[in-house]
Amino acid sequence: MNDYDIKDLDLASRGKKRIEWAERRMPVLTKIREIFKKQKPLKGIRIGACLHVTTETANLMRTLKDGGAEVYLCASNPLSTQDDVAASLVKDFGISVFAINGENRETYYSHIRSVLLKKPQITMDDGADLVSTLHLEMKENLADVIGGTEETTTGVVRLRSMARDGVLYYPIIAVNDAKTKYLFDNRYGTGQSTIDGILRSTNVLIAGSNFVVCGYGWCGKGVAMRARGMGARVLITEVDPLKALEAVMDGFSVVSSIEAARIGDIFVTVTGNISVLRKEHFEVMKDGAILANSGHFDVEIDIKALRESASSCREVRTGVIEYTFPDGKKVYLLSEGRLVNLSAAEGHPAEVMDMSFANQAKCVQFLLEKKEDLKPQVYPVPEEIDSSVASLKLALMNISIDSLTVQQKKYLRSWERGT
Ligand code: ADE
Repeated sequence: MNDYDIKDLDLASRGKKRIEWAERRMPVLTKIREIFKKQKPLKGIRIGACLHVTTETANLMRTLKDGGAEVYLCASNPLSTQDDVAASLVKDFGISVFAINGENRETYYSHIRSVLLKKPQITMDDGADLVSTLHLEMKENLADVIGGTEETTTGVVRLRSMARDGVLYYPIIAVNDAKTKYLFDNRYGTGQSTIDGILRSTNVLIAGSNFVVCGYGWCGKGVAMRARGMGARVLITEVDPLKALEAVMDGFSVVSSIEAARIGDIFVTVTGNISVLRKEHFEVMKDGAILANSGHFDVEIDIKALRESASSCREVRTGVIEYTFPDGKKVYLLSEGRLVNLSAAEGHPAEVMDMSFANQAKCVQFLLEKKEDLKPQVYPVPEEIDSSVASLKLALMNISIDSLTVQQKKYLRSWERGT
């Protein structure tokens, strides 16, 4: 068996059944796997992946392995690993996994280093911790790398900063920015799984609540839409005038974060930025307010300030910490301020991860095919890959769409004809 560090191999049989459950909902990735199995486009390539270790990720790892790659996987968040999935990947699929749910920061980074020690030629990251560790601590392994992919908005922002500072060593494809990724995974995936995480950890009624969404990017749009669908009064906070205007015209109340803090019952941060909810907000919150984050890092809620403002704290339900303030007011923090959708629930459903991970698999193939032409930059997903994923998804959902007639194509190319 390959090298690994996971919680318990005996969890494998439960993990395998869950991986198969997700597989049935990932027809595009399954189709790519079948093709990879025959053609072996990744033959002999070492891939280091730093992703949430979920049933959906397991199916991506199987696809890469069936394509001929040697695959090494670590977690992209200390609280998102599904230990049964990690066990099955090791036992049933022969994939090296270094991830344990609840691992501390030191173990989290030692697992990243374990993957980097395998000298990956392709990096597949979610949040850019693998890439940043490689560039900061293991520069000697950079020479082996052909290229990489990045799954999430926060990671793409970090990588663009690296490219801007001239320190990015190899080409990386921003999978997040494919339309078949962010329009579905970020919006419908985060929308549903965030509500799922809040419900699994609290079982509160969303209907009639004042539900505050901080950030109206694609993730925030999804969370707001689903909270409204469940009967909440949804309030949006934003710093970008355009997004704020969009929220207004989508029918939401847009308020300042201090105003929202006074009236909110449930708060979700999805901005990708630091200290969105901080001391000044905690001070004016109502008794019983619930705080959750669905942004990539645990920096959006200033937990240190929350701890310092409170006189005591205790765990009142799994993953729910009650902070009591000197005046007796109580505020509840979910999942230590880490991604609530992956810590308290199972992350995005397989149906949307199908498209995200189809893009991942195809982009690895693209990197290998085009390696001579690519520079150390952040690249978009090629348009052909993005649209092929959309077409395949529709076809596998048994949905037919129209195509342009010859006359319509001609009309779209012309300019002479007006009113
Ligand atoms: N990110 C969000 N949801 C996910 C999932 N189910 N698997 C892997 N990464 C994710």
